[in-house]
Amino acid sequence: MTSFLHFPATSSLPSSLRGPSLAARPNPTSLSQTRVKCRYAEAGVKSEDFNSGAIDVVADVRPERVVVLGGSGFVGSAICKAAVSKGIEVVGVSRSGRPTYSGSWIDQVNWVPGDVFYVNWDEVLLGATAVVSTIGGFGSEEQMQRINGEANVIAVNAAKEYGVPKFVLISVHDYNLPPFLLSSGYFTGKRKAESEVLSKYPNSGVVLRPGFIYGKRKVDGFEIPLDLIGEPVERILRATESFTKPLSSLPASDLLLAPPVSVDDVAFAAINAIREDDFFGIFTIAQIKEAAEKVRV
Ligand SMILES: NC(=O)c1ccc[n+]([C@@H]2O[C@H](COP(=O)([O-])OP(=O)(O)OC[C@H]3O[C@@H](n4cnc5c(N)ncnc54)[C@H](OP(=O)(O)O)[C@@H]3O)[C@@H](O)[C@H]2O)c1
Repeated sequence: MTSFLHFPATSSLPSSLRGPSLAARPNPTSLSQTRVKCRYAEAGVKSEDFNSGAIDVVADVRPERVVVLGGSGFVGSAICKAAVSKGIEVVGVSRSGRPTYSGSWIDQVNWVPGDVFYVNWDEVLLGATAVVSTIGGFGSEEQMQRINGEANVIAVNAAKEYGVPKFVLISVHDYNLPPFLLSSGYFTGKRKAESEVLSKYPNSGVVLRPGFIYGKRKVDGFEIPLDLIGEPVERILRATESFTKPLSSLPASDLLLAPPVSVDDVAFAAINAIREDDFFGIFTIAQIKEAAEKVRV
């Protein structure tokens, strides 16, 4: 991936995005060499002679270190958990830092409390091989522009500046809404963030556009089982897809027809995005599910 090696000049950037000198930054492409000892024996060779067939295999391994912005949130925590399960080193960033509930995967994440608008990127991005941003949410028009749009634009530029080769954005499906509804700060913010990802990472940037995401959302110590609604709705919509397809050209029809997707599918699609060099661009709900299948075991 050639973008690994591209470090733009830092002098034109705001000081918040300037890191240490380039020479001081580890190159995320640097490969560590792992020596693996393999032993083999042909049929009939006695066990005491077995070592004589030992060979050394030196494999080039690219260590993965993913930074999950919004790592403590509903989607972010599922991504952190999935990444840990795949042996990926994980840094989770959010204003509140480490989640308050417990779980074995939580201890394996390096939690950094920080606000994307003010965070010390050195602490977060040095050595990162991918950034996944789940930053986004609702509020006033201005807040939605800021959190869905500006926050992610800042994150994309910081990642680019630090030479992080991959950026994955959790965006949203457009629900086939008419343009006047898509002009809300939520959607305009999301689209602004998407364009930043695709323009700064034309050959590796990933935008996932899920609809309603279900799973177990933790709020103030309670668990909201969104899967009790999401799972059956997803099944019904998939089973009736061939009948409902003709309706999909109607404006806003996807508010009813876009299938919900499980939080684990979104997480595994993000893992697939991190791992596959040729996985980039915009991904629909169906493609998210497909990508998740490749990683899920
Ligand atoms: N949930 C859905 O059904 C759904 C559907 C489609 C798309 N999406 C999109 O998916 C993304 C994740 O959604 P979610 O449901 O997981 O949201 P969430 O639970 O509210 O998680 C958002 C995360 O972002 C962090 N965050 C917010 N502002 C921050 C800031 N300035 N700096 C650092 N961290 C910040 C939050 O932690 P702190 O508050 O502690 O900072 C939290 O960890 C969003 O972009 C959302 O629009 C969600």
